[in-house]
Amino acid sequence: MNDFAARLLAWYDRCGRKDLPWQGVDAYRVWISEVMLQQTQVATVIPYYRRFLSRFPAITVLAEAPQDEVLRLWAGLGYYARGRHLHDTARIIVNDHGGEFPRDLLALCALPGIGRSTAGAILALAFGERHPILDGNVRRVLSRYHAETGTPGDASFEARLWTLADAYTPALRVRDYTQAIMDLGATVCRRTPECERCPLASDCQARSAGDPRAYPSPRRRAAPPVRHARLLIVRDGRGRALLTRRPVDGVWGGLWSLPECVGTDVGAWCREALGLEVTLAPAGAPVQHRFTHFTLAITPQPARLRRILAAMENPDLVWYNTREPEALPALAAPVRRLLALF
Ligand code: ADE
Repeated sequence: MNDFAARLLAWYDRCGRKDLPWQGVDAYRVWISEVMLQQTQVATVIPYYRRFLSRFPAITVLAEAPQDEVLRLWAGLGYYARGRHLHDTARIIVNDHGGEFPRDLLALCALPGIGRSTAGAILALAFGERHPILDGNVRRVLSRYHAETGTPGDASFEARLWTLADAYTPALRVRDYTQAIMDLGATVCRRTPECERCPLASDCQARSAGDPRAYPSPRRRAAPPVRHARLLIVRDGRGRALLTRRPVDGVWGGLWSLPECVGTDVGAWCREALGLEVTLAPAGAPVQHRFTHFTLAITPQPARLRRILAAMENPDLVWYNTREPEALPALAAPVRRLLALF
């Protein structure tokens, strides 16, 4: 075995994480955990992972569930496309692969929401097959160890790191090695690294160059634009709030949200778009929510229902009793917070 892998494994035996709920489980569970962990930290993921698997203990159960229920259990994790892709992939695996995960890199990469690194992680962690991974943690470890300069997402930088990732991945103990390199990135080789605890420090090139934090180069990002939205929190005489389902192809796709007012005359918009006569209360202070590519500045607009002008037959527009959180559909976390505030 190469020296890099041997040192990492010796460190893993002493310091690595060995009791994560998705260790030593089948491909279905590894896949769910890897998708949840794509943009979310371990401590946040654990309770979501447990709830998700107790509701969907097998891929057939997930494939048969309504999308709304899948998204409800995803709500709060963010990046909801992950939840929709998970559901689509479960259906494809049940319908086209007899319910079994393909043990093949290209077949896995063809599934919604599974990229090369997630596919490699599933093959390595669930099946013990030798495949490299390159997630954010591994990218940090390898770019520092070799002082590889470049920006995540840049094709030639990624190609060089994939070559290194492949060269170091051992045939023996590939499960432990895969967990070890992720653990090193997550617990030692963090954005601000703790090199004195690192098993690779003695010949880490970024460390000898003096500034490990410079690797990888920060992504070139313009300040994200700010978009504004006025969300209507209208309650009827029984305290129920009007919720609307978001179109699948935008932010919070498929989740339930508050109606987004268009234009400056909110009263007129409520009459025309919703068929409701309302009494407006003063708008609340704006709250900001960060998406990947922009920031949404939400102005909460509380209102009270006076009367219904036109009953609208719209299954995506429903009055909900928000005092019974159990009965609520899948809501994005900021919407849930606004409903609690108003
Ligand atoms: N991040 C991505 N995959 C992970 C895993 N299996 N354990 C811990 N953190 C991870």
